[in-house]
Amino acid sequence: MPQVSMTVNGKNVAGEIEGRTLRVDFLRENVGLTGTPVGCDTSQCGACLVHVDGKAVKACSIFAGEAEGAEIATIEGMGEADGTLDYVQQAFQDHHGLQCGFCTPGMVMSAHALLKENPKPSEAEIRHYLQGNICRCTGYHNIVKAIMVASGQDATGIAAE
Ligand code: FES
Ligand code: FES
Repeated sequence: MPQVSMTVNGKNVAGEIEGRTLRVDFLRENVGLTGTPVGCDTSQCGACLVHVDGKAVKACSIFAGEAEGAEIATIEGMGEADGTLDYVQQAFQDHHGLQCGFCTPGMVMSAHALLKENPKPSEAEIRHYLQGNICRCTGYHNIVKAIMVASGQDATGIAAE
């Protein structure tokens, strides 16, 4: 079987894969990072979103072999090793930006990617950016509010908590 190697959350990882192995399956099954869930497997829900060389990518939409040599960041790489949340995760917690939590890793990774390109997004820009991330529980308002707060902006009036 072919070998693949990449950097995941700053650590070098390598493994044998089948040609059809998706990147999300490699992360979950070979690397043991199960914080990236599979919601749809058809590139629609955004639950599996990770960063590849600094860009937001749905990890079910590409093969693991295409990641050879890439730098991947997953939800496990956010925050501190002692469990301290990063500022986006903290804002989600503080503003009730999650319920069941299934979409949350993808939402947080998407929010980080958005804030990297646009540090002060408007509410409309946040909603537009999150179009590829589906949440079945929250109605999105508190997710948008959390991202507004994470960006240091006033989120008053976006959602009732
Ligand atoms: Fe990848 Fe839904 S599992 S987009
Ligand atoms: Fe349940 Fe978003 S919190 S799917």
